[in-house]
Amino acid sequence: MKAVQLNSFGINNFQINEVEIPIPKRNEVLIRIKAVSLNYLDLILANGSFSNDLSFPYIPASDGSGLVIALGEEVTQWNVGDSVVIQYVQNWTKGKIDKESNRVRVAWQTPGVLAEYVCIPAHGLVKAPENLSFEEAATLPIAALTAWHALINQANLQLGQTVLVQGSGGVSLFALQIAKAAGARIIATTSSNEKAERLKVLGADAVVNYNEYPQWQDKVLSLTNGEGVDITLDVAGTDTIAKSLLSVKENGFVGTAGFISGADLALNIHEHKINMSFLRIQGLAVGSVESFKALNRAIEVNDIHPVIDTIFSIDQVQDAYRRLEEGKHIGKIVLSI
Ligand SMILES: NC(=O)c1ccc[n+]([C@@H]2O[C@H](COP(=O)([O-])OP(=O)(O)OC[C@H]3O[C@@H](n4cnc5c(N)ncnc54)[C@H](OP(=O)(O)O)[C@@H]3O)[C@@H](O)[C@H]2O)c1
Repeated sequence: MKAVQLNSFGINNFQINEVEIPIPKRNEVLIRIKAVSLNYLDLILANGSFSNDLSFPYIPASDGSGLVIALGEEVTQWNVGDSVVIQYVQNWTKGKIDKESNRVRVAWQTPGVLAEYVCIPAHGLVKAPENLSFEEAATLPIAALTAWHALINQANLQLGQTVLVQGSGGVSLFALQIAKAAGARIIATTSSNEKAERLKVLGADAVVNYNEYPQWQDKVLSLTNGEGVDITLDVAGTDTIAKSLLSVKENGFVGTAGFISGADLALNIHEHKINMSFLRIQGLAVGSVESFKALNRAIEVNDIHPVIDTIFSIDQVQDAYRRLEEGKHIGKIVLSI
């Protein structure tokens, strides 16, 4: 079978190699991967800026969808021919995450899924939503589940609340779509007027260009009668976390998802802004299998279709990673396998 492999860090070093099709062990399922989507994490794992702790040859990418082809011994919950999506935090089945359930992440502690066939433990899969193509379903495991878990499980999003989504990447666009389906008002930030227009078409009620308005939190306050939004998910870290905290109202929720501009969260705002406004800052770590099933029900009932920027073939793997690195994308970058 074909598998994408890295033998050293760097997205120019991807090779497409012929390797043996894996054989499912006890409690494992063999999957014919049909589509893979990329996350910011895949980029920083491949270029070596996130962790040195990978063993080469390394098969990248964690988000995939496909068909069940064969079952290992003792697998009872899946049948050959089922359409499935891979759960990223493999052992987080339900409830709260802890160190043990966070131990195994796909393409980090296990091989990735950018290959024609992979073996995955039977408990680390969910049924693909019936209304989605394989390409669409492959976008869900990290970005959509992070947005769902943050908004629905952690922030307890209510009809009529206002949600601020930051940028037009994977997590933020799923947050927009989920919050819209839940009856929220959406304010979005973005880097260009072209992206702002697209965000409006996708359902944003107001958009702020943070390059035109570097103090975008003031715009968010003026769009909310000086009160602030109920919920925001911070995706950029260093450059945005203080502004995120200044954008939410009393009892507001700030989910810390990402660190695109840096991971150092020196705040430089008055402690009273957090304590005397009763704010909640919540660390996020994707979501459980139980939450993934709830997300997929909502996707089917509301007929939500993920926003796909570009679909590449497996031979274009370097182009796909470059597209992510350039940051010009809107939504998800997908490889059809
Ligand atoms: N904790 C978790 O569970 C979890 C889960 C998923 C992702 N993440 C993290 O969340 C972040 C976003 O992931 P993603 O997959 O959605 O990334 P992505 O698809 O690459 O999207 C990133 C978007 O962020 C915006 N952006 C870039 N730099 C920015 C800045 N300095 N200030 C504000 N916005 C900026 C850009 O959109 P515009 O040009 O429109 O502004 C860009 O397209 C990453 O750091 C990722 O590692 C964490």
